[in-house]
Amino acid sequence: MKALVTGGAGFIGSNIVKELIKQGYKVNILDNLSSGYFINIKEYVINGQADFCGGDIRDYASVLHAMEDTDIVFHLAASVGRQRSLDNPQLDSENNLIGTINVLEAMRKYRVKRIIYSSSASMFGELVTPTIDENHPQNADSPYGVSKLAAEKMILAYAELYDIISVCLRYFNIYGINQRFDMYGNVIPIFAKRIYSGEPVIIYGDGTQTRDFVNVSDVAKANLMAATSDYGTNVYNIGSGSSITINELAEMMIKISGKKREIIYAPERSADVKHCKANAEKILKTMGFRPEKELESGLIEYMNWFRSNKLY
Ligand SMILES: NC(=O)c1ccc[n+]([C@@H]2O[C@H](COP(=O)([O-])OP(=O)(O)OC[C@H]3O[C@@H](n4cnc5c(N)ncnc54)[C@H](O)[C@@H]3O)[C@@H](O)[C@H]2O)c1
Repeated sequence: MKALVTGGAGFIGSNIVKELIKQGYKVNILDNLSSGYFINIKEYVINGQADFCGGDIRDYASVLHAMEDTDIVFHLAASVGRQRSLDNPQLDSENNLIGTINVLEAMRKYRVKRIIYSSSASMFGELVTPTIDENHPQNADSPYGVSKLAAEKMILAYAELYDIISVCLRYFNIYGINQRFDMYGNVIPIFAKRIYSGEPVIIYGDGTQTRDFVNVSDVAKANLMAATSDYGTNVYNIGSGSSITINELAEMMIKISGKKREIIYAPERSADVKHCKANAEKILKTMGFRPEKELESGLIEYMNWFRSNKLY
């Protein structure tokens, strides 16, 4: 079985590549390394466990080339994050929507019959219920949320039109190994960087805002389960079903580090949602998927990795 992983050098993609190799898949990675890192996949490429196509999903010829002999696609390549999309909305949609159409068209040409899409809870926009199930209104309020929603709709349309099994996994907040700090980074790498470089941890607002975190190793398992599930085309939330305040997160990470760090508070950012928690019952009831890694043990593992790789 040969899998094409777009965005396979990125944070989540590289963890899926690792799991695919573990389960005996042949793996091909298409990535332009715009936000991913070759080092995430170097070992697999050098060992001949994965092939690397340096290419761009906006370039149809590159996608066609990478798609040859593929049985299943894991589609992750994207311009990721709300702020990045506000800074460059055209680039966001070129990558996330046009790039997705290129992937779908190449699948159609080569009669590839299954895609697992890394979708995002950002498609829901402003939350109207405390927990978010798959039927929550879709009010994406950033170019990123809109492009992820549009790509998901496009994938579902291709499923209907061309008989492609399409499983869309809507991630909430994912963290774990290979998640590096960058200017658009997520809260966990940002806190880790500040803690290990001796700086106070900054929280925007009063820190009572909540988030639902899932470890990337669980996300990789969900992708692999979706690859072989008999439930056909569908959309699923991937969340833990529980949430933690940002105050609790900061305290937990400081405690794990064994350092003494001050928490300082900065004015709330208007774009930040206050609470975010997934209802992830649907994937539990259908595929039996439930995230297994506890946040604390996942954070211990993450912070060890972050510190030992000197990512601060
Ligand atoms: N990290 C999260 O919490 C989260 C939450 C919801 C959804 N997602 C989705 O998961 C997927 C992976 O996100 P991630 O957090 O691993 O981010 P990432 O930036 O680490 O991974 C994206 C990868 O895609 C590659 N890429 C970007 N544009 C490309 C292009 N035009 N052609 C080829 N490759 C390209 C990047 O180089 C990178 O390796 C994305 O689709 C994202 O929308 C992530």
